[in-house]
This record gives sequence, structure tokens and C-alpha cells, in this order.
Amino acid sequence: MNHKYRVGIIGTGGIARTHARGYRSLDSAELVAGADISQSAIDNFAAEFEIAGRYTDLDEMLKKENLDIVSVCTWPGTHSPATVAAAQAGVKAILCEKPMAVSLGQADAMVEACEQNGTKLAIGHHHRFNSCNTEARRLIAAGAIGQPTLVHSRSGGGLSNNGTHAIDRMRYWLGDPDTEWVIGQVERRTDRYERAEPIEDLCVGIIGFTGGTRGILESDTPASDAPDVGTLIYGTEGMLKISGNSLYAQNAEGAGWRQLDVPQDTNQFVELIGWIEGKNEHRNQAKHGRAVVEIMMAIYESARTKGLVRLPLETKDSPLVMMIEDGTLAVEKDGKYDIRLN
Ligand SMILES: NC(=O)c1ccc[n+]([C@@H]2O[C@H](COP(=O)([O-])OP(=O)(O)OC[C@H]3O[C@@H](n4cnc5c(N)ncnc54)[C@H](O)[C@@H]3O)[C@@H](O)[C@H]2O)c1
Repeated sequence: MNHKYRVGIIGTGGIARTHARGYRSLDSAELVAGADISQSAIDNFAAEFEIAGRYTDLDEMLKKENLDIVSVCTWPGTHSPATVAAAQAGVKAILCEKPMAVSLGQADAMVEACEQNGTKLAIGHHHRFNSCNTEARRLIAAGAIGQPTLVHSRSGGGLSNNGTHAIDRMRYWLGDPDTEWVIGQVERRTDRYERAEPIEDLCVGIIGFTGGTRGILESDTPASDAPDVGTLIYGTEGMLKISGNSLYAQNAEGAGWRQLDVPQDTNQFVELIGWIEGKNEHRNQAKHGRAVVEIMMAIYESARTKGLVRLPLETKDSPLVMMIEDGTLAVEKDGKYDIRLN
């Protein structure tokens, strides 16, 4: 084909390189520009990927480069304004890294700007393209474990950092059910941040999905001597286990845990092009990223209001930030630190 989609990346650090390689692997896309607030970050990136368009001001890039696709690879707190700016510049599609946003209000602003400008928005929850996860979703839909009753996951490094993947995986396996309620608990005794945003020391959440399945997420709970068995998905007629890149089943089809063959899946960049060209939906389209933000914020809101939170969540600001600011989550050990940035 002659036409190549013009791609620009906002935030040219670590994950931007994965995006750059993803676009490079496509015949139909050409990486033409990048923008970063750090001069050295954009200079290094532009040299590595041999792109002429290098900017320290994303608005200038959006104005000059006539982009079709933008990847937002900045820190979480800037995903929303960067996405809104790209949508308002009229790009066809945006792939924004996870977490979609750090408040429900920010996520809604992204959805609204993209709807108003006809921009397709996908979120980088790329675990949906892990072949094991896709096969688990297919098996559950096919009734391989009967009615799913419970999903238990452990995660670490902050709810908004890795917990966002864990919740997104739960929804993906279960066929993206709505959420009826959330109850959770949050501890933040240290002044902990992740890529410039405040995070908790630890939290837990129980998620009540429509249809009756429960999700239990432990995030940064103390390490125990219990073996890490990955994630277990329980059903009325069996269980699935996902550990690393392997999928196991235990059901009426055989004795004990059986490792399953898993067909190879596609990737989020290929699916983005297909979505632009009207072939299908994107499995990471914004409504799923927003659903995850809503659940994460509902865990915080449950801690703030000391009770069960029924969705839809009305609170648009981050309840975590509200609890930090009003002293509910008072730091007991002084010294702000960021687990990712120096
Ligand atoms: N999907 C995944 O598995 C995965 C893996 C790693 C990181 N991520 C996500 O990607 C995002 C970036 O993480 P990273 O590890 O690449 O961080 P990073 O620090 O390596 O890179 C981020 C870059 O964004 C730049 N930046 C910050 N604010 C900006 C702004 N307003 N405008 C332009 N540039 C700005 C920084 O200068 C930096 O160069 C985070 O949201 C992170 O959670 C996702």
C-alpha cells in the first residue's frame, strides 16, 4: 500500500520504545515524530529510531506533524491532558499507556474529547493480547469451568501501576462484565509515589461483577510463605490457573492440572490499524480502560467512606488523593519517595 499512517509518540522513555518497535513492525505505519519534556530523552529517542520530528512541546508536534496515530507514553498523571490535546488536534487514533488515568474525571475527559473529535482511543492493557489470557477468556465463555465464581489475583508496585493490569485481566477473562459493587481497604503510612503520582503502601479489593462472579485483588500485601500459584479462576465445574505464560485447567476432561496448548494471538498495534480501517473493535478500547479506573477508584472510595461502594461511581476526583489531603491517610514515616523515578 502507498499510504502510511503518520505516527507520533508523546513521552519518549522506556515504554515508548516498545511502541516504536510495534509501529516499525507494521507496513502501514511510519513513526515520524516524538515529544518529551526532557530534551535528552527526545534526542536519544530520535537518534535511536532515526526520526526527524523531535519536540519538547507536544502541542507544537501536534500542530506541525499532521499525525494519524499518537501513542501517549508519559507518566500516568499526564495521560489525560496529552490524550485530550491529541484528540483535539484531530488524530484518527490514540494508544494511551496504562493506567488510563489517575481519576475517573480524567478518564471521562479523555472519552469525551475522543468522542467529540471522532478519535478512536485504546488503552495499553496489552495483557489482553497474551495468548493465555485470550484462551482463558475463550474457555470460560465456552463453559469449560461451568459458571465462574471467583478470580483471585495478587499484584504489586501500586494499584494504578500493576493493579490496573490485574483488574483488566479479570474483566477480560470473564468476558468484560459490568461491576455492581466494590469493597476495599487501603493503607498508606509512607509517602509513596509511582512515576510522580501518589500510590498506597498496600490495598485489597473485592469486586462484585454482574452475573455473580467475585474478583479478589491483593495489591502489595505482605509476602507470605505460601507458594505463588499465579492467578486462579474458580468455576462451578472446574478451575483455570494462569502462571507466567502457561495456562492450566482442572475439570471433568482429565485428572489433576493439565497444561493447555494455546494458539498465538495478535498484538495491540495490528489491532489498532484494523480498528482504524473499520475491520473490528479494539479489545482495549477506552470503555474497558475506564471500567478499570472506576474499579480502582471505587476501592479507594470504599476505604474513604468505610463501606461498600455501588457503581456507577459518582466521585470524579481521586479518593486516594482526597484521603491524603484531608489527613485520613496520614504519613507516619516522613520522606517522600518514588518507586520508579529518582
Ligand atoms: N503496558 C505496560 O506493561 C507498561 C510497561 C511500562 C510502562 N508502562 C506505562 O507507560 C508510561 C510511561 O512509563 P515509562 O516506564 O516509559 O516511563 P519513563 O519515565 O521511562 O518515560 C516517560 C517519559 O515521559 C516524559 N514525560 C513526562 N511527562 C511528559 C509530558 N507532559 N509531555 C511529554 N513527555 C512527558 C518523561 O520525560 C519521560 O521521558 C506509564 O504510564 C507506565 O505505567 C506500561
